[in-house]
Amino acid sequence: MKGGYEHYMQKEIHEQPESILQTMRGRVKFSRVVPKEGEAWDPYTERRIKLGGLAEYIPTIRRGRRLMFVACGTSYHACLACRQTMEEIAEMPVSLELASDLLDRRAPIFRDDMCVFVSQSGETADTMQALQYAKDKGALCIGVTNTVGSAIARSTHCGVHINAGCEIGVASTKAYTSQQVAITMMALALCEDSIRLRAQRDAIIDSLGTLPDKIRAVLKLDSKMLELAEQLKGEQSLLVFGRGYNYATALEAALKVKEVALMHSEGILAGEMKHGPLALVDEHLPIIVVATRDRMRGKMLSVLQQLRARGAQLIVLCNKGDSDIQDLCGKSCRLIQVPEVVECLQPIINIVPLQLLSYHLTVLRGFNVDQPRNLAKSVTVS
Ligand code: F6R
Repeated sequence: MKGGYEHYMQKEIHEQPESILQTMRGRVKFSRVVPKEGEAWDPYTERRIKLGGLAEYIPTIRRGRRLMFVACGTSYHACLACRQTMEEIAEMPVSLELASDLLDRRAPIFRDDMCVFVSQSGETADTMQALQYAKDKGALCIGVTNTVGSAIARSTHCGVHINAGCEIGVASTKAYTSQQVAITMMALALCEDSIRLRAQRDAIIDSLGTLPDKIRAVLKLDSKMLELAEQLKGEQSLLVFGRGYNYATALEAALKVKEVALMHSEGILAGEMKHGPLALVDEHLPIIVVATRDRMRGKMLSVLQQLRARGAQLIVLCNKGDSDIQDLCGKSCRLIQVPEVVECLQPIINIVPLQLLSYHLTVLRGFNVDQPRNLAKSVTVS
């Protein structure tokens, strides 16, 4: 059942090249359409996204006042990772809600809101109750789930199955990356008619096609992440800094470390560093900084400089061959080097070595990987 792996979490981390492919299967057309003889090339009909469960609702969604994403835990982080893509290429205002907080506030929802409920299990009580609340307000409800026939899949008006395959480990791993692919595909479907965004859209579709191979390459970092886990296993705490697309990576990596390795960990928005977290930084506290190349580059280099100036024990997640980072951070800095994809998909690559790190930390610290204490796979009571 575990296919030669020791634990389900480990198996599910390693399944990601295939689970991501399953999420895209039959929905993303990458190949060029070769025109028939005498026909001209039409560069604008080459790449396509087809989401059967959403297709007839696309015009309605486009007319909506805003997209509101509602989720809990890791599923919320997947929404956060995709927010900027949705804002930029679907060109709609996007708000994010933790389901429990939305319910606590009885936040305003209107008939022309488009509410997207993201849940691996499709059964999470808070997300389900938020869905009922949004439905009562007359909003269009869209489900993004991994479980066909689940309560959320059944109760939404339309949606997308992420098709990541059954996830057994309590800590969500492959569902997280597939959720991001599904939400990105949704953003791409929403901007299909825009000529202005065509080049950006095509670049994202091309990059989606490279994800399985690039994740295969990242999984080869397994022994390196085991080595890093050996070095970190006795630590009390681990901070993870990220910003932009990778703020979600920082939050998700910290969640994985705390929930399975039972080590205190905090994901920090690097832009907030000077507003409090910098006080924690000294030579004893290990800090992972997600600094892959994107438009936040200059700001992340400055964050690294400031952390280094305070003697932080730095571990930097950067792109392969990024010599500037090694020069800036010095020899004592440990690097996790990953392949590059378009910046909006980079969080999908970046989380994989951090999932491996939390897995190895858990095993080395002697905790139950697949059944972390006090947690359940589906949280069906709120
Ligand atoms: C963390 C984790 C949880 C779930 C959360 C929501 O690894 O798995 O944070 O993401 O309980 O669950 P779903 O996605 O099933 O609604």
